[in-house]
Amino acid sequence: MIDIVPPAVIGSNAQPKRCDRRALFRRAARLLAAAALALTPALASAFDLEGHRGGLPLRRAARLLAAAALALTPALASAFDLEGHRGARGLAPENTLPAFAAALSIGVSTLELDTAITKDGVVVVSHDARLNPDITRGTDGRWLSAPTRAVRELTLDELEHYDVGRIKPGSDYSYRFPDQKRMDGVYMPTLAQVFALARRAGNREVRFNIEIKTSPKKPADTLAPEDFAKVLLTLIERERMGSRVIIESFDWRALKAVQTLAPSIPTSYLSSQQRSLDNIAADEPGGSAWTAGVQFRDQGSIPKMVKAAGGAIWSPDFRELSAELVTQAHELGLRVIPWTVNKTVDMVRLLDWGVDGLITDRPDVLREVLAEKKLPLPKATPATP
Ligand code: G3P
Ligand code: CA
Repeated sequence: MIDIVPPAVIGSNAQPKRCDRRALFRRAARLLAAAALALTPALASAFDLEGHRGGLPLRRAARLLAAAALALTPALASAFDLEGHRGARGLAPENTLPAFAAALSIGVSTLELDTAITKDGVVVVSHDARLNPDITRGTDGRWLSAPTRAVRELTLDELEHYDVGRIKPGSDYSYRFPDQKRMDGVYMPTLAQVFALARRAGNREVRFNIEIKTSPKKPADTLAPEDFAKVLLTLIERERMGSRVIIESFDWRALKAVQTLAPSIPTSYLSSQQRSLDNIAADEPGGSAWTAGVQFRDQGSIPKMVKAAGGAIWSPDFRELSAELVTQAHELGLRVIPWTVNKTVDMVRLLDWGVDGLITDRPDVLREVLAEKKLPLPKATPATP
């Protein structure tokens, strides 16, 4: 059975406008985390050197404190959720093993990734339902031209003919991510391979924020949301990863299916109100086809929509967030984890608003911001793809 995932302790450094219990709890968790992290090395060393220093009561106390601090550290350090977007897209090819290895080596609490399902039913990691011409080369070494084939039309073996390690020079994408390493011989990984990578790295804490990429606008490109959810959940159960995953989607029909099939798995509700993707459709009289019947006109705000849909987490485009919306979401009991935040100035502002995590292409930059604010950092586990 898929395990229940306890909601992580909420953490940020915002000054709560109201002295509500949730804000106090967040502050206390943050302080405890910082204390545990600061104390751990000293206490652990007292424990190691017990034969050489202090009397017996002191040694016992040190040992107890060390054990408590060490036990508290991982849980509290994950209080703020540092999510590596598509692994670490700013540094390595998106959604590939090198990108996930980079993120694990830098140290994140969660690996964010996107999924598709092949013709032979394998869950693979891909942002796009169809092969992306900006990053995909065929066996002739050339980048593909649109229209490309859908992942669901290809077997896993066939997918291995496509290299996704290098952005097409001159594309918009190449200008957006100049620091992304260009690589050869890199293929779309299966989700099972990403789990295996974390295991090989000895990282038993990192979580996986797995996006179901279905769309009511393009139903033919993927399985139906409910069927997609079933295949994904079967794999998660087989891999015994139920306690370490979050499932996210812009397509709230998929999240509804997850809630029914695996109620213990937290669901993260993505929202976007951009021209390129507006899954809320607040101004459309007919409402949104993405939100499983939960409509803006009935709820009046996106946090209220997420709450009505039964979500645990609201994950908005960070450009659409405000301090007021963060407060409203927290009052509804939701965690708020915006995407995709790559600039220090935006990270600092969002942290000051009290968000519960950030999804970033640059986990290295976010770690610097968290360190500057004396916030605990997730552990780094060197990994090789
Ligand atoms: O995790 C949220 C974010 O990944 C959603 O946008 O397009 O990068 O999947 P996208
Ligand atoms: Ca995503």
